Amino acid sequence: MKRSAKIYLLMGVSGSGKTTIGQLLAAQLGIPFFDGDDFHSASNIEKMKAGIPLDDSDRYEWLKNINRIGNEALVADRSVIIACSALKKKYREIIAEHMEGSIFWIFLQGSKELIQKRMATRKEHYMPISLLQSQFDILEIPNESIKIDISLDKQTMVNTILEETNKSTLGVVGLGVMGKSLARNWARNGVKLSLYNRYIKGVEEKVAENAIHNYTELNTALGFVDVKPFVQSLMQPRIIFMMIKAGRETDQFIDEILPHLEAGDILVDGGNSHYEDTKRRIAYLEKQQIHFIGTGVSGGEKGALNGPSIMPSGPFEAYKKIEHLLNTIAAKDKNGKPCAAYIGPDGSGHFVKMIHNGIEYAEMQLIAETYAYLRYVQGLAPNKIADLFHEWNQGTLRSYLLESTVHILQKKEGDAYLIDLILDVAGNKGTGNWATISASELGIPAGMITGALFARYVSTLKESVCNLRQQTVTNSTDQSLSLNTVKAAYTAARIINHQQGFLILKAASLEFKWDLDLSNIARIWTNGCIIRSALMEEMIIAFHQHDELFNDDKIQQEIIALKQDLKSFCIHSLASDLSIPCHAASLDYLNSLHAKHATANIIQAQRDFFGAHTYQKRDDVTGTFYHTEW
Ligand code: 6PG
Repeated sequence: MKRSAKIYLLMGVSGSGKTTIGQLLAAQLGIPFFDGDDFHSASNIEKMKAGIPLDDSDRYEWLKNINRIGNEALVADRSVIIACSALKKKYREIIAEHMEGSIFWIFLQGSKELIQKRMATRKEHYMPISLLQSQFDILEIPNESIKIDISLDKQTMVNTILEETNKSTLGVVGLGVMGKSLARNWARNGVKLSLYNRYIKGVEEKVAENAIHNYTELNTALGFVDVKPFVQSLMQPRIIFMMIKAGRETDQFIDEILPHLEAGDILVDGGNSHYEDTKRRIAYLEKQQIHFIGTGVSGGEKGALNGPSIMPSGPFEAYKKIEHLLNTIAAKDKNGKPCAAYIGPDGSGHFVKMIHNGIEYAEMQLIAETYAYLRYVQGLAPNKIADLFHEWNQGTLRSYLLESTVHILQKKEGDAYLIDLILDVAGNKGTGNWATISASELGIPAGMITGALFARYVSTLKESVCNLRQQTVTNSTDQSLSLNTVKAAYTAARIINHQQGFLILKAASLEFKWDLDLSNIARIWTNGCIIRSALMEEMIIAFHQHDELFNDDKIQQEIIALKQDLKSFCIHSLASDLSIPCHAASLDYLNSLHAKHATANIIQAQRDFFGAHTYQKRDDVTGTFYHTEW
């Protein structure tokens, strides 16, 4: 729910001035004040009067009451001030339930001596001075609070509170295409922003300033080129979302900002960082009491602007403090739920994003191979292929990447199709490479991702292979395939691509003890991200019941029914000299899984022959290892 109401929760030990400051603040802001003391049960008051400290169970109902006051105010979109000692972290959790992102914790901080002195002058209060020590004993100073020194005069305290609570809610670092679009998305959702972009003479000048100037929704944001004032412009705990280049630049920025941060602040990395870097950064920053969240963000520029898919991981406690900010900008699934979800600990969010990109690589390559067959073997013009893809996109093959390709194939520059003017050399930014390495390290045969990645690499070997390319003439085979066969082959290969991708996630979940929820990952991939598709909706159901796609009867039957078409497509394409690494890898994977005639027994025998590596026997269920003197 988008709400602008705020709960100002003044906390601190008894006698720290919560009521006085709360009333002053309420008068200044023109909003109601609630004194937590008024909500104690008669038995609690009796206990305190008798000088007996309250315990957790005494306080439970009272804290629930305070939570109720706050939530009622928020539902009515009404800001209120509440005074409550809220001494322990778990008390604050009870108070804050369903109010994340709407509470300012304002901690009135002072020495015991000063408070004792003030309590001595206090009349008609049931709390005896003797209980003060018990309050200090259990006080857990909250990192996530605005700290106000109670030795200051009252008006200065109120002014400081007003100043601090007026600061920006979120800092965005890096205003490239993605950072700027995310910032605009947050601003449109009412989040008060501070924007930082580094200054590089002649290269990155006035970036924040220009963004604020060029986009009306950013007009109220504050812009910075220096880290210190940027940090100071944020309310505590500071939440800083980085959208900068992965790798060294991310580490350099962390080093630069760290001296300006305080315990409890939260740094969020939304770039395509490597999951192991994220794990390392979480551990490093934890030692300095700074929370670090690594999050995958998918959807490109449009997704960032209108609703991306978001995959955060790291310390759960910190995630809960930014959850509302992520949910508010995320795309929504078909039931209106945000396509954002806590993925797990460590760098699991970046790992999941990395595999998302691996699946993306293979999805792209499959479309490219299908296009190549239709164009070069069947002789269809790009606009005709666009029509066909458009038709496919109306049904179960619907996907963002297919839809994008329709637009691509329709695009003309002068009389030419733009696609024909684009150099045949594919780039990459590294996530497909990492996905391939991780799959391999985890022992998962991700032939399709690897095939798609290597297809990009092959395309860069221009110098060494271009002569061979020119000599290679694509031969059309005598009979061409029906369009239904091409469609069925593409359908089958896509299912296999998803099976392999999710298998890597399953293996990583077991290996790293991440407890990944595959069904929920599929759900947050149904909208906002690059691989959103109708098939992904099916993945939600399949992974709800199974942890492997091929264990799903419906999917299994579909693959069996489609295999012949996949085979025909591969045979025809290869006979026509087409490169089809992804379709071929998918068919080969099925053949390997279903092969009656195994090959691994030969491998085992060879290993035992030259290295005495031993083998197991088919008929020995005990799993005993044998060695033969060959
Ligand atoms: C996304 C994309 C995005 C980026 C790719 C491009 O999910 O929004 O995956 O992250 O476009 O990383 O990667 P390559 O340059 O390697 O194709």
